[in-house]
Amino acid sequence: MLKPSDHFHGSDLEQIEAVYGVKKEEIVSFSANVNPLGLSAQFKSRLARQLDVITSYPDREYRSLRKAIGGYCGAEPAHIFVGNGSTELISLIVRLKRPKKALILGPTYSEYEREIKLSGGSCLYFPLQEAEDFAVDTDRLAVSLSDGADLLVLCNPNNPTSSIIDAAQMREILDACVRLGIFVMIDETYMEFAPDYEKATAVPLTASYGNLVILRGVSKFFAAPGLRLGYAVTGNEALLKSFSEKQNPWTVSSIADAAGKLLFTDTEHISQTRALINQERAAIVRALSEIDGIKFYTPHANFILVKLLNKNLTSDVLFDKAIRQGMMIRNCCTFPYLDHSYFRFCFMMPQDNARLLTCIQEYVNQ
Ligand SMILES: Cc1ncc(COP(=O)(O)O)c(C=O)c1O
Repeated sequence: MLKPSDHFHGSDLEQIEAVYGVKKEEIVSFSANVNPLGLSAQFKSRLARQLDVITSYPDREYRSLRKAIGGYCGAEPAHIFVGNGSTELISLIVRLKRPKKALILGPTYSEYEREIKLSGGSCLYFPLQEAEDFAVDTDRLAVSLSDGADLLVLCNPNNPTSSIIDAAQMREILDACVRLGIFVMIDETYMEFAPDYEKATAVPLTASYGNLVILRGVSKFFAAPGLRLGYAVTGNEALLKSFSEKQNPWTVSSIADAAGKLLFTDTEHISQTRALINQERAAIVRALSEIDGIKFYTPHANFILVKLLNKNLTSDVLFDKAIRQGMMIRNCCTFPYLDHSYFRFCFMMPQDNARLLTCIQEYVNQ
C-alpha cells in the first residue's frame, strides 16, 4: 500500500485517491504535462461519427495517417513510422539499434535507460549543470562523445529541465556524431510547445542527416495520452526497413489511426494551444520571479523546473500541501542529479495556475 511519502507518476491518480482521499476527478494534474485545453469539440464530434472504424483493421501501412503527419510536421510520409505511443517507438528503436553504450543527457526521462538496459546495453550519463541552467555545453559534450558511445539520446525540450538545444547546437552535435559513427535519437515529445518550435525542431534535419531519428506523439500537445499514438521521423533507410520488418502489425488501432488524421489537421485547436501555453509560460515566469527563496530554469516546454533554496523546505512537503488542495505537482527527487529541493509543474488553465502559485508562495514564505 502506498503512503504519502511515496512518489507518484502523473498517471497514478487512482493511487493518490487511495492515499490522500482526494477524488481523482477533482485533482488538477500539474505533473502529467498534458495540454489543459483537452480535446476540441470539433474533434470529438468528428471522431464520434467514425466509431465504426473499429469494426475493421487499420491500413497496415498507415498511408493516410503518415500523409497527415507529414503535412503537419514537414516530413516525407515515406520517412515516417507510427507506433503505440512514443514509448513503443523508444523500445523498438533501442531493440533495432542494440546500442552497446549509450550516452544520455541527464537529468531526463527514465524510459531511455530502462529500455537500453533491457536490451543489454549500458548507459553513460552526461550531467547537465545546474549552474548552467541545465543548458548543454557542446564543447564538453564533444569530449564525452569521444568516449566510445554508439547511441546518443537527447530529449528536446528536456523533461524535467524544460531546457532546449537550438538548431545551430543540434547541427554541431549531429556533425560530431556523424564523424564518430554515433546514432542519435531525439525525443521531441514536448517540441510543439516551444515558443520557437519551427526553428528548434530537428525534423528538417532528417532529410540531410542519416544518423538521426526523431520521436513525437499525441499524448501531451494533443492531450491524448490514452490514444497511444506516436511517430518516428528518420531518413535512415535501413532503420525504416527494419521498422517495417520487425514491428508487430497493427500496434496503432484503427480508432487511433482515424483520430490522428483529425488531430493533425485541427489547426484552430493547435493555434489556441500555442497561444495559451505561451501566455501562461510568460505569466508564470513573471509570478515566480516575484517569489524569494526559489530558483527556476528558463522553460521552453509546457512545464517548468523549480528549486527550493531554503534547505529546510522540501518538494515532498510541497507535494503534500498541494495534493491536499487537489493539485498534483511532480516531486523531482527521483531524477538523477536532482534532490528533494526540486519540483516540476506544467502549465494548466490560468485560474489553476494562480491557485498553485499561491500554494507555492505560501509554502516558501511560511
Ligand atoms: C520525454 C517523454 N517522452 C515520452 C513520453 C511517453 O510518451 P507516449 O505517451 O507518447 O508514449 C513521456 C511521458 O511522460 C515523456 O515525458
